[in-house]
Amino acid sequence: MANSPIAIEELKLNSFSIFQERWFVLMAGDFAEKKYNCMTISWGSLGVIWEKPFVMVAVRPTRYTFQFIQQYPDFTVCAFPTECHKALEYLGSKSGRREDKIAKSGLTACAAEKVAAPAFAEANLVLECRKMYTDPLHEAAFLDPAIVRNYPNRDFHQLYFGEVLAVSGDRALYC
Ligand SMILES: Cc1cc2nc3c(=O)[nH]c(=O)nc-3n(C[C@H](O)[C@H](O)[C@H](O)COP(=O)(O)O)c2cc1C
Repeated sequence: MANSPIAIEELKLNSFSIFQERWFVLMAGDFAEKKYNCMTISWGSLGVIWEKPFVMVAVRPTRYTFQFIQQYPDFTVCAFPTECHKALEYLGSKSGRREDKIAKSGLTACAAEKVAAPAFAEANLVLECRKMYTDPLHEAAFLDPAIVRNYPNRDFHQLYFGEVLAVSGDRALYC
């Protein structure tokens, strides 16, 4: 089933399980320039801030994708049908620094509707986002001392809030 535009008001999904169980692929860069990279993510959120719908993603500075999301003004997050799960495992365990991991995953980058960052032809949900805020996590702000155990290498995540500019997907699944 081909993807169609979905208005934010129509979108129906469980924002906890889509991150934690199904995962997204975060893509940053520029499709026309052929400069982009992606990685699987399962930490993040969907919500509203400053009266805008937004996606928050958390990227460790050690990821190759970090260079792209830092440099370029927008990003996409894509969800996939279950048959693509192996490809998402691949994109979440290999680095684009060392190989063309998108080609090896079997997935296909394609142009997004409103942003320069690519989407994926196989995705069944695409959220196109423009960066509006970024900041690293600050260790001094961790209120639960257990949190720091996530950072043995002190590579604290950089947070990005992206305003959602467009949503497209399989309306049978998400409306
Ligand atoms: C299920 C799953 C979820 C992940 N979630 C995140 C995340 O939210 N943030 C992050 O920085 N890395 C996350 N990773 C790790 C990156 O996807 C992984 O390090 C990837 O190989 C980075 O690729 P890159 O170097 O090409 O950017 C996750 C990996 C998996 C398998």
